[in-house]
Amino acid sequence: MITEQLGKYNFEYRDNTLHWYGVNIKEIAENVGTPVFIFSTEEFVKRIRRLKENTDYDHLLCFSLKSNNNPYFILAAKKEGYGVDVVSGGELYIARKAGVHPKKIVFSGVGKTNEEIQMAQKEGILLLNIESESEYKAVKEISKSQNLNFGISFRVKFEIALDKLHPYLGVGKKESKFGINEDLALELYKNAISNGLPIEGIHFHLGSQIKDLEIFRKASELCENFLGKIESLGCKIKYVDVGGGLGLDYEKLEEPNLKEYIDCFKNIGEKYKVIFELGRYLSAPSGILISKVIRKKEKEGSKVFLVVDSGMTETLRIPLYKVSHKVIPVNLRNSTEKVFDIVGPICENSDYIAQDIVFPNLEEGDLICVLYAGAYTTTMSSNYNGRLFPPEIIISNQKYFVSRKRQDYQELFSRDQFEEQT
Ligand SMILES: Cc1ncc(COP(=O)(O)O)c(C=O)c1O
Repeated sequence: MITEQLGKYNFEYRDNTLHWYGVNIKEIAENVGTPVFIFSTEEFVKRIRRLKENTDYDHLLCFSLKSNNNPYFILAAKKEGYGVDVVSGGELYIARKAGVHPKKIVFSGVGKTNEEIQMAQKEGILLLNIESESEYKAVKEISKSQNLNFGISFRVKFEIALDKLHPYLGVGKKESKFGINEDLALELYKNAISNGLPIEGIHFHLGSQIKDLEIFRKASELCENFLGKIESLGCKIKYVDVGGGLGLDYEKLEEPNLKEYIDCFKNIGEKYKVIFELGRYLSAPSGILISKVIRKKEKEGSKVFLVVDSGMTETLRIPLYKVSHKVIPVNLRNSTEKVFDIVGPICENSDYIAQDIVFPNLEEGDLICVLYAGAYTTTMSSNYNGRLFPPEIIISNQKYFVSRKRQDYQELFSRDQFEEQT
């Protein structure tokens, strides 16, 4: 069961019990209960430093909070000298609350409200990545009465084939709702120049789970070409925000070559400051989800179900994108392997964690560990079926602590009032 890959992430079985970065995972589950998310700031920082050490041009990492907004990941990115990428007032709020310097915050998103743009203005963030003509007009309106307190950047859609990506994840496509096509973007840059607005950057984000680095190379080339057109208008760009999207293999736990990814933007990095908005690459392998087997259902046709206490409310990306996560047992014991469906308790057929998985013969009360659970899990969680958000535990220096407590029923329904209306 213990593979070389698991060792690379500092997992090991000591006395047949899973440990991560030296911390006994079973002990956490016993003390805090399940389901529980466990995040390693050491793994997260190791990954950030890998980016830092391999990038030989001027850059800023803006960790994408949509992948994981745990305060200790934000604090770790900040401590490494980096910032964050936000897509809502909520994410901007938590970034500032964690003390991220406003000039290390970039704000993207196709539907920023006027209130959110005002919030960016008040905070004085680095870049507002404008995604439509209408949003540009709203920004221009603010500039009539106040000096803009953020740099302007337009999110441009380059003509790149993204057919290999999941249709929900290839967001840089020409027909997607995100960003602005090249012709319109050029017009808006011209307009912003003539209005003396503080144009500082350009932005693109192609999608998520991109494993073919050629896609990044191509985008970088097209962006350089486009930059030539804007600069010929007399506008000096400082920042090129290349988005995020670097993919991982969730089954084999294999990673892309980070240096090769960084080199995709070398042409740009020689002239501009490159902003990376990586999310998944940094956070996915920095988190696990521990769940307990609640029921074992054996006499159900050909299937044997392990019903565990987490499901699509915590790992929505499994049914949403029809993908899988590697699952391993927390305790190793000598037992014959069997074929199982590991499913959650939620009232949907789509509520599964693994189907037809060959697994040790677990019993009720046993624990499972879902790997690569640090990205698009907590941030995509819901209270569907009246379920509570699990706690988030940080492990660091061989110790652990609760960084976000488990929701309780009172908090779940704290927004409701129960007075009968006459
Ligand atoms: C604008 C933007 N930036 C960054 C990211 C982070 O992407 P990833 O987690 O795949 O690196 C996303 C996610 O899709 C995004 O929409």
